[in-house]
Amino acid sequence: MRRPGVLITGASGEIGHGLISRLAQDSSTTIVTLDVRGLEAAQGRMVHREIIGSITDTSALERILAEFDIDHVYHLAAYLSTRSEFTPVTAHQVNVEGTMNLLEFAQKQAESHGRPVIFLYPSSIAAYGMPDLETKAKSGRVREDEFNTPTTMYGCNKLYCEQLGRYYARHYKQLSAEPMAGRVDFRAVRFPGLISAVTVPSGGTSDYAPEMIHAAAKGEPYACFVRPDTRIPFMAMPDAIEVLLKLAFAPRTSLTKTAYNVGAFNPSADEVRAVVAKNFPGADISYKVDAKRQGIVDSWPADVNDSAARADWGFAPQYDFDRAFSEYLIPMIRERYAK
Ligand code: SER
Repeated sequence: MRRPGVLITGASGEIGHGLISRLAQDSSTTIVTLDVRGLEAAQGRMVHREIIGSITDTSALERILAEFDIDHVYHLAAYLSTRSEFTPVTAHQVNVEGTMNLLEFAQKQAESHGRPVIFLYPSSIAAYGMPDLETKAKSGRVREDEFNTPTTMYGCNKLYCEQLGRYYARHYKQLSAEPMAGRVDFRAVRFPGLISAVTVPSGGTSDYAPEMIHAAAKGEPYACFVRPDTRIPFMAMPDAIEVLLKLAFAPRTSLTKTAYNVGAFNPSADEVRAVVAKNFPGADISYKVDAKRQGIVDSWPADVNDSAARADWGFAPQYDFDRAFSEYLIPMIRERYAK
């Protein structure tokens, strides 16, 4: 008998870190992870099987298929936006071909156990491409179907993989009267920039906000790579984890979209700097604009319209800008670096 479980790819990354801790609170959940990097020791103890390997290696997925009855896939592995611009061909292999491998894996799992495999896919605000700053300023909260013209390899990959997921969810024949039985039940969320108190991202372009906060807490100087007036949406990591779980367990019949916007607050870079400086009085934060990274963030919307997520599956972030800093980021980061 194969063991029922959930699979998390990219498990050693920022979202994976939070998701493992949260899923492990229910000891009956069997967690299987796949990542090219090993998990931190504490995280490793929370999972039942840690596989070190790449999503581009189908033999690793076949081993999981042989041993586990996976009914939820959290496919988090990806090259983020800045990194992808340096190695676009590799980014495409990992982000697109890797996702294709996971969709095939999910399809085979669903066929073998006859139930749907719920496939959670973190897409991104990078799926948008605002043509210029004037349009960005006047467009306000963009809807899912607006400005789907990404400028980065990562954004193109995310937008296309949303469509691949939609294809898999529709394409395969039904095995029973239950509409999603034996099929991939694909659900995507377009995350804004995420900020965690326990991990720092790598290779993203929204990284200036978390990097600024963590540098100040460590007493290190930080040169922000975007202009002070740069504005995009963000979310605190605990809300991002809740988003994945809430969407995973929403009734299929209530979902009207393949990919949902979610947002929580959208400070300018200088508003982030101000709150960091207030909480860490010695903080040494300056600006040294990187034209390429600035161009990427300028192409992302200043805010997103997430009313569909709120209406369809009850999205309701707990952390606004003030609360994210006062009740989550500042106290937890202080504690972390005090250790
Ligand atoms: N945070 C990601 C990045 O900056 C966007 O999804 O690449």
